[in-house]
Formats: sequence, C-alpha cells, structure tokens
Amino acid sequence: MVAAHRGRASAAPDAICHDPWALRLAGPEGEALSLRWDAHSPSMVLWMALRTRYLDDCVTRALDRGVRQVVVLGAGLDTRAARLARDGVRFFEVDQPASQSDKRERLSRFDDYPMDAAAFVPCDFEQDDFVELLETAGLDRGAPACFVWEGVIYYLLEAAARSTLERLASEFDPRSLVVFDYLNTKMARSSPRLREEDRGMKGIIEELGEPMQFGIDDPTPLMAECGYRFLRTVSFDELALEYTGTYARERFFRFQAIALASTSEELSLW
Ligand SMILES: C[S@@+](CC[C@H](N)C(=O)[O-])C[C@H]1O[C@@H](n2cnc3c(N)ncnc32)[C@H](O)[C@@H]1O
Repeated sequence: MVAAHRGRASAAPDAICHDPWALRLAGPEGEALSLRWDAHSPSMVLWMALRTRYLDDCVTRALDRGVRQVVVLGAGLDTRAARLARDGVRFFEVDQPASQSDKRERLSRFDDYPMDAAAFVPCDFEQDDFVELLETAGLDRGAPACFVWEGVIYYLLEAAARSTLERLASEFDPRSLVVFDYLNTKMARSSPRLREEDRGMKGIIEELGEPMQFGIDDPTPLMAECGYRFLRTVSFDELALEYTGTYARERFFRFQAIALASTSEELSLW
C-alpha cells in the first residue's frame, strides 16, 4: 500500500519524488489499497511524496557530507538502495525475513532492478539482535551511518521504539544520523477528538492487522532520554510549503511529522 502511494506520487504531474519501481512492486493489490485511502485522506499521496523526497534528501545530504553507509530499518518495498546508489556507498536493508523474501521475489521479476544494490539483512526486531546482524553483514560500526526508519515506529510498542533509538545512539559511530517519521498521540491512541477522516484511515490500518500504537507529540524528551543531542523536526505543512510552494489549510493531514537526530552531528545547517 505504501509503495503504491509512492508509485502514484511518482507518476503525478510535477512529481515531488521519483520511484520508478514502486507501482510495479505494489502490484494491483497494493494499488487497490492505496486507492481506498483516497476517500478518507486525499492528502495521503502528497504526504508520501513529501516523506519520500525529504528522506531521500536527508540521505543525499549525508552522502554529500561523506557518510558511506545507509541502513534502511524495516525496509519494506523501499528502493533507495537502487535510486540513491553511489560508488563506495553501502546500503543495508533490515526487515522481517518474510517481508524481505517477498520483496526479493517481486524484485527478481524485474529486469531493470540491481539486486545487489543493498545487503539484505533478515531480522525480526522482536527476536534478533539487529546490531549484531548488521555487523555480520559488513556494517562498520567505527564509521558513520545514516539510518532511515520510515513508516515503522508507530507500529511498535514504546519500549521497543525506545530500545532501538537507544541502541542507535550508543552502539554506532556518534556521527551517525537517524531519520524517522512519527504520528501524534491523538492518532495513535484513537482520541475521541480525532477527525472523522483520520479515524477512517486508522480503521483501514487496523483492518490490515497492523495497529498504530505509539504516538509522539514532542520527540525532544524521548530523544534526549535515548541519548541524542541534536534534533530537527519537520511537519507535513512545512514540507508541503517547501516542496510545493503552497500551504493549503484544507489539507487535513496534520498527524505525521519527521525527526532527524544525531548524538554528535550538528544539524543546524541541514
Ligand atoms: C509500513 S512498512 C514500511 C516499509 C518501508 N519503510 C516504507 O516506508 O515503505 C513497515 C515495515 O516494518 C517491518 N517490520 C515490522 N515489524 C518488524 C519486526 N518485528 N522486525 C523487523 N521488521 C519489522 C515490516 O516488515 C515492514 O517492512
């Protein structure tokens, strides 16, 4: 479904993001799910475009600054390893074994996807040690890495999210960066004040068997407690204004945002 949102965003006139594989990866089932969202949230495809583009830009900026390792946590049908490939840069995709083998099977049907773009690291965060598995796959913990954690944190319990953030802060090179998107608590906890459209969207996700359970209103305390010193957050509205040049109040998509953090890298120029 997410890949289909991304693919539809890529196919739009004046596309903000470009993922040439997303629609094919999503297949008809993914596209049908994505179209179902339109009734509840006409801004979802725009959000996915903004989120994809901003995270792409974060990775690109990290690579421009000399980072040579990119780790995509909970990679799903992410294609950054192919889209943002550069000489000397290694991509690692960490995902549940079943999701990862499904993706590999889908990719193997394409004749235009570089299957060796990323090292695939099968890992169940709830059972396996992702740090050890990354190291075994060749990640150098003595060099900075850019960790992309997209579309995942709100599906976890708070304890699992905290523990992953703490480990990213303490067990890797301190110049590393982590970038992730998050939901507010109103959405995560199904507040009675939730807008009807948002409630409809949450219902679709729950129906799919992956309830959103962890919300964050202000990531500053969480990130400080997990060991981060530098933090930038950016809202849907800010990204919409930056990448489309417009800010439209009628877009009721206010529950998601993105955080970029590091333990030692100043982010003031990002
Ligand atoms: C909503 S998808 C997001 C995929 C991708 N990052 C994107 O934005 O398109 C959530 C991803 O988290 C992964 N995931 C969920 N629980 C996990 C777990 N316990 N261990 C490893 N991966 C997990 C799923 O396999 C899936 O790929």
